[in-house]
Amino acid sequence: MKQDQLLVEVKDIKTYFFLDEGTVRAVDGVDFNIWRGQTLGVVGESGCGKSVTARSILRIVPKPGRIVNGEITLFRKCGENGSGQTEEVKLTDINPTGRTMCSIRGCEIALVPQEPMASLSPVHTIGNQIAEAIMLHQRVDKHVGRAKAIEVLDLAGFPQPKERVDCYPHQLSGGLRQRAVIAMALSCHPSLLIADEPTTALDVTTEAQILRLMRSLQSELGMAIMYITHNLGVVAQMCEDVLVMYMGKVVEETTVDALFHSPLHPYTQALLRSIPRLGQKTRGRQRLESIRGTVPDPYSIPKGCPFHPRCTQRIRGVCDQEAPPWLEVEPGHKVRCVLYKP
Ligand SMILES: Nc1ncnc2c1ncn2[C@@H]1O[C@H](COP(=O)(O)OP(=O)(O)O)[C@@H](O)[C@H]1O
Ligand code: SF4
Ligand SMILES: [Mg+2]
Repeated sequence: MKQDQLLVEVKDIKTYFFLDEGTVRAVDGVDFNIWRGQTLGVVGESGCGKSVTARSILRIVPKPGRIVNGEITLFRKCGENGSGQTEEVKLTDINPTGRTMCSIRGCEIALVPQEPMASLSPVHTIGNQIAEAIMLHQRVDKHVGRAKAIEVLDLAGFPQPKERVDCYPHQLSGGLRQRAVIAMALSCHPSLLIADEPTTALDVTTEAQILRLMRSLQSELGMAIMYITHNLGVVAQMCEDVLVMYMGKVVEETTVDALFHSPLHPYTQALLRSIPRLGQKTRGRQRLESIRGTVPDPYSIPKGCPFHPRCTQRIRGVCDQEAPPWLEVEPGHKVRCVLYKP
């Protein structure tokens, strides 16, 4: 990928939660790049640090969580239609509630969360909420804001947007609420859309519709998508590249094709063996049962390779002692496992 296509660079990010019971190393030294127009899947079992990674990029890590190490850089294109020079913004250096970060959040980088009600206010119509976001970021008047809200609702496949722009969230189905949230996220033409398990709360048919919508929007608008899911079937449908996370670390990074044809990490292999058939609705816990053991307690990450208590290929005396190295086995295909040490 050409360097000028780099959109977000995440370098050695560590985000910890400091609780009375101990420290949760939710994200523990994560590195990756997001390229313009790329669809990057982030996959792993519940609790492995996917959402906290997303929240670290957006600088909305809740207390008592804190980014304790690393750098996140946004490469922003300036000028009309982003045709001008690239400006580097170190997201980790700026005030998370300051003007720059607020203008980036929701504008350059937008979030579609799992539960649409988390980003919709129950006491305002969806039209007003979307128009508000547009007015805030694009400095247009109410009239234009409303017209643009109808436009993006239409883009997000919202039926009869002109008539239904004045609905309140509780008057809509889960699928329509999620379309409204996607419309709101798209309203400022973000260069990165972070979708954090956006279909987990939906039924299978609605899930398929939302996935289709996101794919068509991505090809139409050319934005990058960071697509977070616990479901490898969704990754296969949605993404070009993928990061597999386990206990706060990326354990494998590759293209989706290589992931399905030649998965390297024993954890990825176990995940693939437990893959649900496409379209079948499952919950994370159900799929978990086919991987031996359970995710360890986040306060006491096992020594050596954090996956060793569950790994069928572990080497005694090695895997329970040394942190495995991060290795590039094929160009662009990286894995954190001793089995691939040259
Ligand atoms: N607000 C919080 N307070 C304390 N711990 C948290 C908080 N949010 C997340 N964590 C912990 O951080 C780890 C990663 O969580 P998360 O990123 O939400 O996982 P997931 O991969 O399911 O999105 C988990 O162990 C979780 O318990
Ligand atoms: S480092 Fe060892 S325990 Fe960890 S995944 Fe590789 S073989 Fe399994
Ligand atoms: Mg999550």
